[in-house]
Amino acid sequence: MITYSESIQINALDYSRVVKYNINEVPFGKVFTDHMFIADYKEGHWQNLRIVPYQKFEMSYAMSALHYGQAIFEGMKAFRQDNGDVVVFRMRDNWARLNRSAVRMAMPEVPEEIFVEGLLQLLKLDKVWVPDSENGSLYIRPFMIATEEAIGVKISSEYQFIIIASPAGVYYSKPIKALIQNTFYRSVKGGIGYVKAAGNYGRSLYPTKLAQDRGYQQILWLDAEKGRYIEEAGTMNVMFVKNGTLITPELTDTLLSGITRDSVLKLARKMGIPTEERRVSVEEILTGIEKGEVTEAFGVGTAATVAHITTIGREEGDLIRDYVLPPVEERKYSHLFDKTLRDIRKGRIPDEFGWLIKVER
Ligand code: COI
Repeated sequence: MITYSESIQINALDYSRVVKYNINEVPFGKVFTDHMFIADYKEGHWQNLRIVPYQKFEMSYAMSALHYGQAIFEGMKAFRQDNGDVVVFRMRDNWARLNRSAVRMAMPEVPEEIFVEGLLQLLKLDKVWVPDSENGSLYIRPFMIATEEAIGVKISSEYQFIIIASPAGVYYSKPIKALIQNTFYRSVKGGIGYVKAAGNYGRSLYPTKLAQDRGYQQILWLDAEKGRYIEEAGTMNVMFVKNGTLITPELTDTLLSGITRDSVLKLARKMGIPTEERRVSVEEILTGIEKGEVTEAFGVGTAATVAHITTIGREEGDLIRDYVLPPVEERKYSHLFDKTLRDIRKGRIPDEFGWLIKVER
């Protein structure tokens, strides 16, 4: 077996740019840490593993990813615990999902040791960038792009796997309103809805803009087959509480298998809260809100963590009808999951699921 970790070349800066920023205040995804990890895939294998100062790169306008969308990514986070330790959350789950995306997009899988060692060594160098605020984290973006200079429609023969990182606070500063999207669809059976491909996000931008123009921050995607079942929100999975049961759309090949979704389900089960993963129809949720049975709706995702949904809008004829949920302050479950996740990450309660990996001091 090749031990890739031995061959990571490190070109480290002897100063840090971090002093230029208040990392507890920077906007999401705009400021990047001092270094980045890069690996090249050429001639059928990963090579030239390196950590270099964060930089721009030179590319050909014919680079394959730009034309045919062989581009996949992950989102994960590192946290600063109350005792100063830096931990990374569920990194092997992100690695496994990256590889599921790679297979579907006909891209090479990334060996575990490249992902893990690249990430841990990068974090070791850049841990000064991990915010210590209550809701702060270092958002980590591993991604892979097809880099062959070729515009024939074919599988690229060359790729880069890259990890960059960016200090982050809350993604949604306020609870959000979500509009049911019943004109455009995110994914079809047999499609790429279950993978974290760039194109899944690109296609969400126009419907999201239409919703934003009407005063909603997010959309709720429906299944493309019947247009009846809620699948996920634009940037995250979605959950509801109905009569004290936590309900979330079941995983199919049209839904992203969110790691925060999975974490919340595991926490709920451990707490003895009933959970259901199944098809969730629009009618069930909207009628449930009207009858007072659906008391909470929230998005769950790495960037968003837990994002409270105050209102679900649905187009009815030319108008949009709002279905308003109980006030956020009265919600029991979403606050509980948010706090428990934070307490685990901050090291305030035991990490019983083994989700955290400590970055060497
Ligand atoms: C994440 O939650 O990590 C995502 O990839 C979604 C995007 C809003 C940043």
